[in-house]
Amino acid sequence: MSETEHTPPRRFVGKSALITGAARGIGAAVAHRLASEGCNVTCTDVNVEGIEATATAARERGVDAIAVPCDVGDEASVKAAFSAHLEHFATLDVLVNMAGVLTATHSHEETLDNWERVLRINLTGMFLTCREALPHLLETKGNIVNAASTSSLSGHPWFAAYGASKGGVLMLSQSLAMEYAKRGVRVNCVAPGGINTDMVKVTMPDDVDFDILTRMMPLGPMGDASMVADTVAFLASDDARYVNGEYIRVDSCTLA
Ligand SMILES: NC(=O)c1ccc[n+]([C@@H]2O[C@H](COP(=O)([O-])OP(=O)(O)OC[C@H]3O[C@@H](n4cnc5c(N)ncnc54)[C@H](O)[C@@H]3O)[C@@H](O)[C@H]2O)c1
Repeated sequence: MSETEHTPPRRFVGKSALITGAARGIGAAVAHRLASEGCNVTCTDVNVEGIEATATAARERGVDAIAVPCDVGDEASVKAAFSAHLEHFATLDVLVNMAGVLTATHSHEETLDNWERVLRINLTGMFLTCREALPHLLETKGNIVNAASTSSLSGHPWFAAYGASKGGVLMLSQSLAMEYAKRGVRVNCVAPGGINTDMVKVTMPDDVDFDILTRMMPLGPMGDASMVADTVAFLASDDARYVNGEYIRVDSCTLA
């Protein structure tokens, strides 16, 4: 159920979360949802205008919220964002990694620059934020929710760099889950299928066969960002206290 259809529970009162990719799309929806449940939030993204808007919307839900510019692919920028969060909120309970980029091309025409950019933002960026968050999550027995994808689970044509990055996200998350479980920190993933955000307006190569992609979504239409945010909120909450190293698909089918 989306935030608009019912009153959400208040599972995060007194807690704080840092959310990457919070300027728009699923990351913004997660910030809104957690704020509606009483969570103070640090909204980070490279899109400064977007995070200001998301933080304002969070404050309107009655919590404290700050907007901190952060490029997840830049180690110094990630460190600065966590410093800003801790200076303001003192502790960290939840990290939600939603920052990401999607590009489409024929793989034999893929450039090394684009391959490295996608891996840098989607996978290395997530490693950097997890590494920075973990010492603080160990103190609060907090948890991490990462954006995997149905592209983490099987191949999609034209998305090789994206799929490789999202496959890596799943293994990074499950590795951290195994490593930190006994010390009280959980790490899970949400794996969306087609969600109607700006990301899916990606430019496709001219000659692609769209039937291949639409066959992967037989139940269409695409989902809404709030549907993913609802699942992220569950995974980040104590309702999921015995859920670790898991991924939950938020998708209209089971094929891809
Ligand atoms: N929309 C979908 O269908 C879908 C499906 C599966 C997985 N996902 C994943 O969910 C997450 C959110 O996707 P979305 O649909 O909301 O996309 P989106 O494009 O609307 O939002 C992504 C956000 O990431 C930010 N970002 C990009 N590069 C960044 C960087 N270097 N540092 C910090 N922020 C950066 C963008 O500015 C943007 O605000 C992504 O990780 C995406 O891969 C989305």
